[in-house]
Amino acid sequence: MEKFKTEMADHFLSLYEGNMRSIVYGDGKTNAKLVMVGEAPGEQETIQGKPFVGKAGKNLAEFLNLSGLERKDLYITNTVKIRPTRISPAGRIVNRPPTKEEIALFLPWLKKEIALVKPKCVCTLGNVPLKALAGNEYTIGDVHGQFIEKDGMLIYPMYHPASMIYNPSIKSIYAEDVVRLGEWMRENA
Ligand code: URA
Repeated sequence: MEKFKTEMADHFLSLYEGNMRSIVYGDGKTNAKLVMVGEAPGEQETIQGKPFVGKAGKNLAEFLNLSGLERKDLYITNTVKIRPTRISPAGRIVNRPPTKEEIALFLPWLKKEIALVKPKCVCTLGNVPLKALAGNEYTIGDVHGQFIEKDGMLIYPMYHPASMIYNPSIKSIYAEDVVRLGEWMRENA
């Protein structure tokens, strides 16, 4: 994994400038049975150098508690590993969704990273990693909580843990999906 990080740094640091140069690498057990993949790091993740340590990370931790899964046993990473930003009308640096080009640029690295960990299951958080890994035809609202097999990879799509900040009605669905994942992991991994 260290070699992978060095190769990725060599590749991306020559492409990006300024505050886009901070790569947030995956975090956790490098031989984990479960890999969780988010969208892209936000401000806190970039400051602390770890995925899911901001508000979305707090939500994720709460729900992991329900499932019996522990963060220390997982490997958590993002589809895009730099923080995509834009300037808001008020002049502040804010997050934006990653572009198709950014996702395509990082996707081979995500696949390599997953191949290094060799998990039993890849849990995608939200539409970005779902579409990147399973295919554009999938939408989280249709397939959350259902296993998808793609190129020998078992994918378990869940909503993004930030989605319930905007849509609290997702909370109970999220709880069910994460509990089912915990059960599956105990039985199969
Ligand atoms: N949202 C993500 O998708 N990834 C993070 O690391 C943090 C928030």
